[in-house]
Amino acid sequence: MGELTLPGDKSLSHRAIIFASIASGKSTIRNLLLSGDTNATIEAFRSMGIEINTNDEDVVIYGKGLKGLRKPTGPIDCVNSGTTARLLIGLLTGQNFDSTLIGSNQLSKRPMDRVSKPLKEIGCKVESTRGTLPVTIYPSRVDKFSINTNVSSAQVKSSLMLAALYSEQPIVIIENNATRDHTEKIMSYLNIDLVRMGYTVTVPPVKEIANFSETIPSDLSSAAFLIALGLLTDSSIKLNNVLVNESRMGFIKALVQMGAQIHIDNLRTQFGEQVGDIKVSKSNLIGVEIGENDIPNIIDELPIFALVASQAEGESSVQGVSELRVKESDRLEAINQLFIELGMNIEISKEGFKIAGPQEIKSGIVKTYGDHRIAMTAVIAALVANKEIKPDNTDCIKDSYPSFFNDLKSIGVDSL
Ligand code: S3P
Repeated sequence: MGELTLPGDKSLSHRAIIFASIASGKSTIRNLLLSGDTNATIEAFRSMGIEINTNDEDVVIYGKGLKGLRKPTGPIDCVNSGTTARLLIGLLTGQNFDSTLIGSNQLSKRPMDRVSKPLKEIGCKVESTRGTLPVTIYPSRVDKFSINTNVSSAQVKSSLMLAALYSEQPIVIIENNATRDHTEKIMSYLNIDLVRMGYTVTVPPVKEIANFSETIPSDLSSAAFLIALGLLTDSSIKLNNVLVNESRMGFIKALVQMGAQIHIDNLRTQFGEQVGDIKVSKSNLIGVEIGENDIPNIIDELPIFALVASQAEGESSVQGVSELRVKESDRLEAINQLFIELGMNIEISKEGFKIAGPQEIKSGIVKTYGDHRIAMTAVIAALVANKEIKPDNTDCIKDSYPSFFNDLKSIGVDSL
């Protein structure tokens, strides 16, 4: 059985960098993901005067307190990272300097008005000409203390939560569907007195954030590719110390319903989050239905889920996936093209997709649109089918999982 400990979770790594930068004093973070996306967050804080030292063992961040960031000398480049851009927009409304965020062509196509609109509604000054990057953020004063997010997005909620730290009164943030709750968990871990009730979170203004020393649990969304490999090939896999936060478990829950042999044990808490060791082995799978309310819990895993569904017996149906259109690529179209290229059938509708399996996977060159999760799905498809399947771009994998190929090699899997 191959055994691996994967790099830190991307969502948690972004948040750890942000909170350590605005904490008071030195924080030491182990297993922080160093990838294209998280490097964008690191560089953003470096440009605002925060000293961040990375080495093989850990990342050390010298936080300067909630008001200790300084005006960057130029625009902050979020590169390809939506999380960097959206979380920073909220945080920057609380600073006493103005700043502009820019990004790559890919990121500059993605909507930022989902963040700037609710921030403006509570009184913050955020400007963007087309609702996309570049976005300019001015020192702001919150004058409305309750807000509905309207779009099911943890990034939007988190942006508002970061702005709330600098408000004069608590802000009530109301979601229409539960999204990943890492910002809530890290705030509670840092002794910020937030109150959670159903889909509502109330964040109080804060004077100081304590520094911390922690290990980031491994990334469940990266683990998803290895889990799929373990289920669909003869490579049984054990993944240690993986984040198993309830709001991220949609993929694993769907797989269990499909009949997958997945065992999670050694459950414990780390950095305020649930972690466990995941074991998977080859399984006979059947189709499953995933409804709209479950989508936020599986959103990043839908490309690899589609591949798994193509190998299951019977129909799988997924509803309410319009958010896929505004990810690193139009992921619904990217999944469609991957299926077409590999000679498989998928029925795409406006809001969802249906896949009837099992289907033969043919050889081909998969168009990734520069999207890391599409590229990794293509690599796993090649291993499952044992055929010449190549993504047209593997460089993008660095955005979330730079050690992907090395990790595969370390468990004896030769890819590409
Ligand atoms: C993230 C939230 C999700 C997810 C993204 C990371 C986060 O986006 O797709 O990869 O760290 O908050 P949305 O919240 O916009 O769905």
